[in-house]
Amino acid sequence: MNNPRIIVALDFSNKKQALELAGKLDKNLCRIKIGKELFTIAGPQLIEQLMACGFEIFLDLKYHDIPNTVAGACRAASDLGVWMINVHALGGRKMLIAAQEALSTKKTKLIAVTLLTSLNKSDLNEIGLNEEPINIVQRLALLASDCGLDGVVCSALEAPQLRGIIKKDFCLVTPGIRPLNCSANDQMRITTPQEAIQNGANYLVIGRPITQSPDPLLALQRLNHEIETIGCNDSN
Ligand code: C5P
Repeated sequence: MNNPRIIVALDFSNKKQALELAGKLDKNLCRIKIGKELFTIAGPQLIEQLMACGFEIFLDLKYHDIPNTVAGACRAASDLGVWMINVHALGGRKMLIAAQEALSTKKTKLIAVTLLTSLNKSDLNEIGLNEEPINIVQRLALLASDCGLDGVVCSALEAPQLRGIIKKDFCLVTPGIRPLNCSANDQMRITTPQEAIQNGANYLVIGRPITQSPDPLLALQRLNHEIETIGCNDSN
């Protein structure tokens, strides 16, 4: 598989568990996402170890600061050689352009978080965002695209609307994925892997259905099989 669609979220609180789980996966069938908790505990050394095992890494640190500071962080992340990093689109045009221009290697994909899915309409109103969430998501995705970013993180339920307005090679990375008959855990709005791909997603972020499975590799193989049967968006 030359472009695996599944990104396994290694949401562990210690390095040993993270490496153990990665050791059960196949680098040809997935990529790995490292978030704030694990990176804060284990740092760049863990990234280097996973990359030495052949895994491509999505470093999910969601940078949001003044342009100069975000540019420095993106340059440092890109220097590590990771496959993908992200920033908050709410940082605005100048920050997004600075982030894009700072990548030391264009091999690192830069994507944006539009709106956090944990914010509901009343949370948004409280911080002065009074529009329908989907309108804000669309505007921020277009801004990210206009600033030269490679894609956005979004709900697979938002993907069809974004696909309708955004350029074809813009990549949509979607969490909140659950196979049929699998616990939703704390996710509120879920889609199956098949639905997500049919809705236009390029990459699926999947954590617990794989990491909490008694056989993580088998779970990953089954998920890939489910996706393969319907074909993928191959523009990225
Ligand atoms: O275990 P699960 O499949 O729910 O993990 C999903 C991953 O995607 C987690 O790392 C979570 O933080 C991340 N994520 C999400 N929803 C978003 C953005 C990121 O679930 N809107």
